[in-house]
Amino acid sequence: MMAASIGRLEGKVALITGASSGIGAGAAILFCKLGAEVAITGRDVDNLSKTAAECQKSNGKKPLILSGDLTNEDFVKQLVDDVVKHFGKLDILVNNAGIVRAETIETTSLEQYDEVMNINVRSIYHLTMLAVPHLIKTQGNIVNVSSVNGVRSFPGVLSYCTSKSAIDQFTRCTAMELASKKVRVNSVNPGVIITEIHKRGGMDEEAYQKMFVHACAWPPWTGRRSGQHNSLSGL
Ligand SMILES: NC(=O)c1ccc[n+]([C@@H]2O[C@H](COP(=O)([O-])OP(=O)(O)OC[C@H]3O[C@@H](n4cnc5c(N)ncnc54)[C@H](OP(=O)(O)O)[C@@H]3O)[C@@H](O)[C@H]2O)c1
Repeated sequence: MMAASIGRLEGKVALITGASSGIGAGAAILFCKLGAEVAITGRDVDNLSKTAAECQKSNGKKPLILSGDLTNEDFVKQLVDDVVKHFGKLDILVNNAGIVRAETIETTSLEQYDEVMNINVRSIYHLTMLAVPHLIKTQGNIVNVSSVNGVRSFPGVLSYCTSKSAIDQFTRCTAMELASKKVRVNSVNPGVIITEIHKRGGMDEEAYQKMFVHACAWPPWTGRRSGQHNSLSGL
């Protein structure tokens, strides 16, 4: 199966955010296996270098590493300029970088809400705004990494759920706005995937293990996630 797919992204340039870890790193490496050239972002330069090395191993092309905080508006502006200057175009934007925080309506704060919304929503809004003129030129693609938490309700990760619902709506609206310009916009809504995000978000080992038990007990095809439990976060 894989061999038949190799080369499907040959000639394409992708910008993948949050590629220093987890899903973004995996996506960058896969895109390279499929022939794409990639620009990768994150704040952790050592981790970005590790992803870049894996990318280069898979297709021989050197990724462009652009490290910085996506909540910094100047960095985001520079990011788009640098990608287009370096590769001459942009075909695919993967809005993947994100964080989660453990909180309920009784324990949250506006600072925590801002922290989550600034990276999970505002930075995507901003980066997409700036990337769209270039994606129209290439009739390109946007992929937003949302979550099962965008479509189902979970207690304990309130601003995260709110942010992912916002991204799903952002995806649908921009897809309608850009369809006539032949730019496709989609989101993916993963369930639990083993990465750094849960523990970085404040989940202790016990809650982490419980989450896996829970995720296995309710496979997605049962459709029985929404509002039917009261202790775990989905993600
Ligand atoms: N893992 C899951 O179970 C799961 C399920 C559904 C959806 N998702 C979504 O998948 C996406 C990736 O998550 P993951 O699980 O791969 O998490 P992860 O391993 O923690 O990776 C998160 C990435 O986002 C980057 N990032 C976070 N804040 C940033 C900021 N302010 N500026 C720049 N980059 C920033 C991190 O880079 P640095 O640390 O280098 O800055 C890192 O590369 C997220 O949007 C998440 O909501 C994950």
